[in-house]
Amino acid sequence: MSKVLVLNGPNLGRLGSREPEIYGSLNFAELISQVLEVAEQLGLDVEVRQSDSETELIHWLHEAVDSGSHVVINPAAFTHYSYSLRDACALVTKAGLKLIEVHISNPHAREEFRHNSVISAVSTGVIAGFGIKGYLLALGAIV
Ligand code: DQA
Repeated sequence: MSKVLVLNGPNLGRLGSREPEIYGSLNFAELISQVLEVAEQLGLDVEVRQSDSETELIHWLHEAVDSGSHVVINPAAFTHYSYSLRDACALVTKAGLKLIEVHISNPHAREEFRHNSVISAVSTGVIAGFGIKGYLLALGAIV
């Protein structure tokens, strides 16, 4: 059974109450349950995690490499400036594992600083603007 780590960056634990007009009204627990339901349908072994810490996210990406797990990652604001997170993401794809970058909103339709992703160039693919459905599409893409 393929393993997938679904990683979420800063402030995503606040889903539901954080700018619901942008990120929707579903909370993080509900996101986890939808992801796990689809994971089961697709026959994937999935774990969902969230951290506000760059260090912790980097360690989880190292863990993905060591355990042979594919990654779905919403790097949140780190998307736009974290070169260390980018380098850790590159380790995943260089190891022959898939790494799908997901955004709930469409960053290209928002403030200018959100238009650039330092992660996309080392990702297998990017899904943005489809709400939390993006996570479910990403699992399908891995299969
Ligand atoms: C986000 C978009 C980022 O610009 C923002 O900083 C986030 C969430 C998204 O899912 O749309 O925290 O990654």
